[in-house]
Amino acid sequence: MTDIDLSLERLLFNLNTLAELGEEITSPKDFTRVVKSSLYMVMGSFSASRGAIFQHDPDRNAFYVIASKGLPSAARELSIKFAPETVKEIIKYNKPVDMRDANAAALLGRGKAELDKIGSRVVAFLIVKDELLGLISVNDRFTGEDFTLYDMQLLSVMAQHISFSLHSHSLLMRLMHKYTENKGLYENLRRIYYDTIHAFAAAIDAKDAYTRGHSHRVSAYSAVLAREMGWSTDEIEGIRIAGLLHDIGKIAVDKTIINKASPLTTNECRELNSHPVVGYEILSKIKFPWKGIPMMTRNHHEKVDGSGYPDRLRKSDIPMGARIMALVDAFDAMTTDRPYRPRLSFKEAMDEIKDNFDKQFDPEVVTPFISVIRKEVTGEVENRSIVPLLQEHLDAATISRLLDGFPCHIE
Ligand SMILES: [Fe+2]
Repeated sequence: MTDIDLSLERLLFNLNTLAELGEEITSPKDFTRVVKSSLYMVMGSFSASRGAIFQHDPDRNAFYVIASKGLPSAARELSIKFAPETVKEIIKYNKPVDMRDANAAALLGRGKAELDKIGSRVVAFLIVKDELLGLISVNDRFTGEDFTLYDMQLLSVMAQHISFSLHSHSLLMRLMHKYTENKGLYENLRRIYYDTIHAFAAAIDAKDAYTRGHSHRVSAYSAVLAREMGWSTDEIEGIRIAGLLHDIGKIAVDKTIINKASPLTTNECRELNSHPVVGYEILSKIKFPWKGIPMMTRNHHEKVDGSGYPDRLRKSDIPMGARIMALVDAFDAMTTDRPYRPRLSFKEAMDEIKDNFDKQFDPEVVTPFISVIRKEVTGEVENRSIVPLLQEHLDAATISRLLDGFPCHIE
């Protein structure tokens, strides 16, 4: 074989390696495997049995081994720290360096001593957009041959290929980091948001000596009922918030009216009944991430026969969320003590709902409400949300007796 034949054969081999390297780098394999096989290809091209790829860790501002071959395990723990001026010089130089050359020490500064520890013979830098992302270190060839200028050029091309892989990976990592950071911020904001809404609910309930926890119970009942009716997670969250805020308009109503035990005068009644509209006015100015909260608040005292307030809406004109809240709001009012009467028993409350079926309350809402209570009592559903809030014990036999003769089919 002539020298020309040999050179041609080597050129073809190296071109082939480069093509394989390109393929490897763009493959969807995980990053660690890509880096490892890229290192093996580089080492194969130079018949070297030892080598490593280092990557810059911005948090620790040092270069760490991310793939190695033939090095003792202690060498894999090696970290290289370059002075900022050294990094600038390396980026400017941007060519592989032979560690035996006189300029290696000047170029690498204190990093040279670290690379010497692993017997590094040639080093190529992984640079993208003026950023030193990492480096490749290759030890002596096992054939004993020296590194030629041609080898150094080939190493430079290979380093460019690997740089892109490292660059995309570090972009992805930065993106993930940002995502985690933003997620944390979002969670914090969300917590503050919920805490604020809960504080509002507590402020609303605090005005009424008899209805402590009313907003929380309306919120819990509404959410359970909405789930039973097949609402989406997002819609359920919306009605849960609406439940907490539905009586916010009572903030503008005189406390003595809210707590009055005797019948209200016309004016007092007008003031109390203004709370859904006042609540709507307050909440419609807030940009909630969920739909319909102001309208659910405005219409939670509407009745399906059109005799409710403030808009005297009939059945399907009342938003479904408001129909849900109208039922659970009345149910909670009936089953808790009021200034003007003690609480009704569950049976008495059910009789009231039965008497007002399709008049005050929407059958489309009453049916799933009873159904979900029955499921909670019989243990058909794991999480009981309504029954634990009631002030009396209900068992399966009692509930089926109570629900007997209800004008709807309870599943
Ligand atoms: Fe209300």
